[in-house]
Amino acid sequence: MKPLTVLGIETSCDDTAAAIVQEAALGDRILSNVVMSQERLHAAFGGVVPEIAARAHAEKLDHAVEAALDEAGLGLPDIDAIAVTAGPGLIGGVLSGVMLAKGLAAGSGRPLVGVNHLAGHALTPRLTDDLAYPYLMLLVSGGHCQFLIVRGPDAFQRLGGTIDDAPGEAFDKTARVLGLSQPGGPAIEREAGQGDPNRFSLPRPLLDREGCDLSFSGLKTAAIREIERLTAAQGGLTEADRADLAASFQSAVTDVLAEKSRRALEAYIAEAPRQPVLAVAGGVAANETIRSALRSVAEAAGARFVAPPLALCTDNGAMIAWAGIELLHAGHLSDMTLAARPRWPLDTGQAPLLGSGKKGAKA
Ligand code: KG4
Ligand code: ZN
Repeated sequence: MKPLTVLGIETSCDDTAAAIVQEAALGDRILSNVVMSQERLHAAFGGVVPEIAARAHAEKLDHAVEAALDEAGLGLPDIDAIAVTAGPGLIGGVLSGVMLAKGLAAGSGRPLVGVNHLAGHALTPRLTDDLAYPYLMLLVSGGHCQFLIVRGPDAFQRLGGTIDDAPGEAFDKTARVLGLSQPGGPAIEREAGQGDPNRFSLPRPLLDREGCDLSFSGLKTAAIREIERLTAAQGGLTEADRADLAASFQSAVTDVLAEKSRRALEAYIAEAPRQPVLAVAGGVAANETIRSALRSVAEAAGARFVAPPLALCTDNGAMIAWAGIELLHAGHLSDMTLAARPRWPLDTGQAPLLGSGKKGAKA
């Protein structure tokens, strides 16, 4: 098959994204990557409002696709296929993406390929670093948290995942109660830099339970209780309280992610992969404390640590275009019956994870 140039469309949450990716040497693959964030539209509501998200996608998506084509210096006839997130995610947004992709495919006569959003994240280290299969992926964001052994574009084994909140969601809620700005992750990381991570002893959920499942809801609640207790006792929080709470919270999340990553690595390395790799994706992977803890865990296990650039770790169209390329090579094609799916587990051999999260289904 000749090298492909693919348009990728992503609308599963609060980013309206379109990108053009071509099969080329590392560094020359992404011709354009347009992400129109809706953060401002949802800011007042303390979370993504599905109806507002769906309307904004419907309004902006045409522009995002035009901008992606313009930036790449290409027209629709130059595109070999159209890849679109068909789930999991907020259904109104996924629907707008799938409808537009079908329209473009019908109008241009080009093939259509439906992509699982989580596969887009999970395959990103192949786009950025040419990783060989199988590698271990920790997806850690505002809507997702799971360990996957990635064996191929359509072959994922889930070793574990959150049974309630995603860590980004816990960062955001804790930040809100601390009176910090949104998104809460970067705000907590900034505060934590001045704080004492040992002042408050917060729980490390599920460390006493075997396996790689995680939980962040109890930790979030414990942090919020501590904030409320101090506020009631003192009539407010001092600068030092805020920094110490942020540092203690971040340290608890880091410990949980590090220990569960150690276990996931152990299970994956037991299969004797030729070049063991722990890769991460998702907004929470931007956190320097978490990142360096994960790097240490990987190195201690003899694995390479790979973190794609942040713009490709968070939601974007390039990851969908790339997953589309890999799926097309593996013989996957969709047609006009392609459905938008709010839930779509990557590893269908496993029971679904509980919880749905502020950013939609975790699947
Ligand atoms: O991957 P992402 O952009 O969107 C999805 O959730 O799909 O991740 C956003 C999440 C937010 O919850 C945000 O607070 C968190 O990632 N985040 C961080 C940091 N930067 C972003 N969490 C901790 N530390 C950070 N530096
Ligand atoms: Zn995502």
